[in-house]
Amino acid sequence: MSKNIVLIGMMGCGKTTVGRLLARRLGLELVDTDALIAERQGRSIPDIFAQDGEAYFRALELALCRELSEQDSLVIACGGGLPLQDKAIDPLKENGMVFWLDRDPRETYDALDVSGRPLAQAGREDFVRRYQDRAPVYRRWADYIIPCGDGPQAVEQLISTIYREVSEP
Ligand code: S3P
Repeated sequence: MSKNIVLIGMMGCGKTTVGRLLARRLGLELVDTDALIAERQGRSIPDIFAQDGEAYFRALELALCRELSEQDSLVIACGGGLPLQDKAIDPLKENGMVFWLDRDPRETYDALDVSGRPLAQAGREDFVRRYQDRAPVYRRWADYIIPCGDGPQAVEQLISTIYREVSEP
């Protein structure tokens, strides 16, 4: 039994990719909060936003966090806005080590598939502003800040760094 590994950061910073590889390497289960919410709702994240609004989606995130914080040995890839709700991230931090994957927002936006992301529809400058607004929040909750680069080598480096941190006695 071990504490959860919680990955936070902007949309497109690599939480799901890194989470999948990390979970495989550590022999843990990956939970992607967006994917689980979409699966349980039987509809996509953009559909949830369009049909019921952001507040409804945030309530689903909050309920899921309460549930996940009672479990152990998970790698949890969080939706980008999840740490904005104290009540959602606080229980996850209680029972987990929080890693902020901090990637340059311009680089992130340029590589981002905006189609499935309702809050990335207003262009690059809006995305950068959103990053700037959120950075203090991510910093506040992070136990570790992991600067992220681009490409497979950077991902491998990132995973090794997190692996070292969580494997240390
Ligand atoms: C959001 C990020 C998305 C998803 C939703 C809102 C945000 O997750 O939860 O569209 O507020 O940043 P990803 O970070 O996995 O794209």
